[in-house]
Amino acid sequence: MSQMLFTTINEENIEILVRTFYPEVLKDALLAPFFIAKLGDDIQSQEWEEHLVLLTEFWKFVSLGYDNYTGNPLQPHFHIADLSAEAFARWLSVFHQTVDRLYTPSVGEYFKQKSTNIAENFMRKLGISRPNPH
Ligand code: HEM
Repeated sequence: MSQMLFTTINEENIEILVRTFYPEVLKDALLAPFFIAKLGDDIQSQEWEEHLVLLTEFWKFVSLGYDNYTGNPLQPHFHIADLSAEAFARWLSVFHQTVDRLYTPSVGEYFKQKSTNIAENFMRKLGISRPNPH
């Protein structure tokens, strides 16, 4: 039998989403170097743990309306060298695959829409243009 998919969004499964996504990011040859440069390659480290907690808070803020995240989500991305449209496209692809593994399609659609909107907003503000259509 296939694994049960989450039919709602709650604190518990947001934590699972974040802690499933970032190990996948670290396995991705295009994305991993950006994260390793800032946080190192050991997901068990204190630096990574702080990032995972922060991102869990971020997604609770976005999807559940919690007021626990008070940071500026865009700001650190200004300091990441060589961020590209291709990297954002890959980030979204890995995030969406993770969402599909964990949530039913209708709930997953929410995270896909939200992450796509945020990524497009980030790219616009970072001055990163979309990849050229082939
Ligand atoms: C290629 C795309 C992306 C890369 C390589 C990337 C990389 C990173 C890195 C390395 C950090 C840690 C920065 C630091 O501690 O100095 C960070 C922070 C963060 N990222 Fe991204 N990111 C990407 C896209 C996104 C997207 C699409 C979102 C949201 C949907 C997002 C949300 C965040 C948030 C909330 C933080 C923490 C901000 C804070 O300090 O409060 N990132 N990102």
